[in-house]
Amino acid sequence: MSDKVHIFDTTLRDGEQVPGCQLNTREKIEVALALEELGVDIIEAGFPISSPGDFTSIVEISKAVSNPTICALTRAIKGDIDVAVESLKYAKRKRIHTGIGASDMHIQYKFNSTREEVLERGVSAVKYAKQFVEDIEFYAEDAGRADLPFLAQMIEAVIAAGATVVNIPDTTGYCLPWEYGAKIKYLKENVKNIDKAIISVHCHNDLGLATANSVSGVMNGARQIECTINGIGERAGNTSLEEVVMIMKSHKELALNTGVNSQRIYPTSRLVSRLMRMRVQPNKAIVGDNAFAHSSGIHQDGFLKHRETYEVIDPHDVGVADSSIVLTARSGRAALKHRMENLGYIINKEELDEIYQDYLVLADEVKVVNDDHLGVLYQKIEIKKENAGIKS
Ligand code: KIV
Ligand code: ZN
Repeated sequence: MSDKVHIFDTTLRDGEQVPGCQLNTREKIEVALALEELGVDIIEAGFPISSPGDFTSIVEISKAVSNPTICALTRAIKGDIDVAVESLKYAKRKRIHTGIGASDMHIQYKFNSTREEVLERGVSAVKYAKQFVEDIEFYAEDAGRADLPFLAQMIEAVIAAGATVVNIPDTTGYCLPWEYGAKIKYLKENVKNIDKAIISVHCHNDLGLATANSVSGVMNGARQIECTINGIGERAGNTSLEEVVMIMKSHKELALNTGVNSQRIYPTSRLVSRLMRMRVQPNKAIVGDNAFAHSSGIHQDGFLKHRETYEVIDPHDVGVADSSIVLTARSGRAALKHRMENLGYIINKEELDEIYQDYLVLADEVKVVNDDHLGVLYQKIEIKKENAGIKS
């Protein structure tokens, strides 16, 4: 029996904070509907106090989306919460996500305050929000660098005040995976009322560890992951939805599952990339252009004999039409023959050997050999055959 991990998508909030990636209301609705089809559990639709446009988008997304919970972000401020409540009025399922800094760094430099004061502000915000909405998520910002006993005290207090989900963000992406996992374990073991709330992980990617930290978090008891499509977000981004979902799907021994329809991953990734005008890096896991492309001779030979020699995910499982064989100067005869045959160019062993030499010279020059190039190479063989009086 495997345990459900809730997928909290924050593409439209943390993801949309990327400079130049802002979306208008119509585009946000399009993304929200795609996320619903993908099967996420919660859509963080925005930070409604931040702008009238963000407020309107949450209102319209709430009307358009039926299944996922719609979540609105606030600071631990009554005015923010009032606006969030208003923005969620049409949501079938709603959540307010409120919180405050938990690390001494944030308490001292951001709030010029004390641990006691921020704890009190956090508790008051949860109690205030709870009067309007049942489902309240509390974030302890910069939890990754917070003093652990103080973090536990804060989490216990906000759960007692009514928080149903407690978010432990590694806001600066600083933690190591085992360290982050140990924090979640500590909270599970030391917060008396922890069974009354779901622990959520929200990891940033400043050191490239967001996915590893999120997985470590769920392996230690968290049951919600906050993530974005293509891993977009502040600075180096957030945990990638596609990565954590496929890790849990591929590693059955973790005994964790999500409600995500993985075949919708690639189309959703393309949609977000197109609307946000943000290219996905080619080597990005799962959704990058090269994620299922094989270019070296050794890999291509193995792949053509048995796909799983070089692929741990079937591309169809994530909505990618097919794997690809890229012809470069590192490719071997097997790949060249395979591509020629796909184009209808049937060649024997000697012809292949001959073409391969011309092919290598060409590949060094053009870097990637395409179908037109192969046509030209094949023509050479045909002309030779014609001259020798052989019909192809
Ligand atoms: O990174 C962070 O700490 C956040 C919070 C607002 C949840 O985005
Ligand atoms: Zn964040």
